[in-house]
Amino acid sequence: MNENKMLQSTSIIIFGATGDLAKRKLLPAFFNLYIEGRMPEQFNIVALGRAEKNDDDFKNYIKENLILFSRNKKAIDTEWEKFQSHITYFRHQIDEDKSYEDLELKLKSLDKAYGLRANRLFYLSIAPNFVSTISGHLKKAELASEPAQDRIIIEKPFGHNKKSAVELNELLSRTFEEEQIYRIDHYLGKETVQNILAFRFGNSIFEPLWNCKYVESVQITVAEEVGVESRGGFYEGTGALKDMIQNHLLQILCMVAMEQPASLDAGEIRDRKVDVLKSIRRIPYDMVDHYAVRGQYAEGVVKDAHVKGYRQEDGVDANSPTETFASIKFYLDNERWEGVPFYVRTGKRMREKQSYITIKFKPLPQSTFIGGQHALSQNKLIINIQPLMDIRLQFMTKMPGLTVELKPVEMVFDYFSCKEDTPEAYETLLLDALEGDLTLFMRSDQVEEAWDVVKTIQEYWENNPDPSFPNYAAGSNGPKQCELLLQREDDSWA
Ligand code: BG6
Repeated sequence: MNENKMLQSTSIIIFGATGDLAKRKLLPAFFNLYIEGRMPEQFNIVALGRAEKNDDDFKNYIKENLILFSRNKKAIDTEWEKFQSHITYFRHQIDEDKSYEDLELKLKSLDKAYGLRANRLFYLSIAPNFVSTISGHLKKAELASEPAQDRIIIEKPFGHNKKSAVELNELLSRTFEEEQIYRIDHYLGKETVQNILAFRFGNSIFEPLWNCKYVESVQITVAEEVGVESRGGFYEGTGALKDMIQNHLLQILCMVAMEQPASLDAGEIRDRKVDVLKSIRRIPYDMVDHYAVRGQYAEGVVKDAHVKGYRQEDGVDANSPTETFASIKFYLDNERWEGVPFYVRTGKRMREKQSYITIKFKPLPQSTFIGGQHALSQNKLIINIQPLMDIRLQFMTKMPGLTVELKPVEMVFDYFSCKEDTPEAYETLLLDALEGDLTLFMRSDQVEEAWDVVKTIQEYWENNPDPSFPNYAAGSNGPKQCELLLQREDDSWA
């Protein structure tokens, strides 16, 4: 949630710098911040990887990937030479003392060149099982010894259930203060997700309607066209519940449902989100089938191309019970949302990539226009997160003409009407981390509560594989039972 601030000199240390995330997201994000003049005046990216590489090879590899993945490609010709001078590749063995001693020397030599002890931003872009090793070594080598200056960014998944998340938090707390830990959920960096707060609390006309008196249901959809691609090995045993719902969808739900924060202070906003997570009614183990639906994609057709089923993907077991689709009906036990269902759904290999929130308002209790030829549609507010980025308000209007005929219409605010190009989520989040702003990052209790919300579903699904898998065709809208979840309440996906 940055403003243009003067940034302290910083050494950015990326663990896993030769991995997918670094080439697709992290380096392009730093590059874009750089060309927009948002990086500190003095900074260096120390890219750590296991492979023996020289600096030039690594830099060429990064340049090739900037051409593929950077939002701004035009600037590569003019800015690359300057940007690349801030990058050093460093061979590193995660579990070797010597590697951390060498890193210490490197960071000290950078400090000497800066003329001060710079801030240190450690980015862990590695498999979750290495977090404890790295954190232990950073402590032992006293590499992150300045709580006011040193920060660590950790990618999801943060643990694989509540117990492991608690353990991981405990372990990190041996090296870092909570204020130094930036647990990333990249959905919170998306422009359209950040705007939910501005939309709700920066306008006077929506907030009075934002409660159980006027809202009938809230629906949150994150549909992806892609399958598991090359991540079959990771995805097996993860599944849609842990990969998407526990983090991204619950965070969106928090933004929609939270009470007004007293200020934009990070602690205050995070407190209000934790309140929401605590208020979500826990689903009893023996009621999971009533509130939750899971699915797994079979082969099918997506955008005219025939694609494999999940069980045929590389790295996936031929009888895999892992879900690639999940949908849940939640209730919030608080005054504002009493009795309002919050439906969330997410899936891979769906008909189209589409993420959006629908707020469905209750029908009018009485209306002059009820009955006869006037089929009144309920008012809806649709917040399109991606790839469409807009806000649509649907309401009824009289058709121009001599007869009185009503029709639903839409009023649309399109982001691109303000700015053609919006920053990538990682740009926003990395800038916040450089500035020390924790607002868009997850606090330890947020992560633990979110795991608690899905705990019974996770256990029930693990203990009871679904014999109907695969139960939806790639390129469809997911399993039929997902429609039934809403039909039981006389509702439908909007
Ligand atoms: C990641 C999940 O967190 O989010 C992926 O691990 C998923 O499985 C991705 O594809 C979706 O992110 P986005 O920004 O493309 O919607």
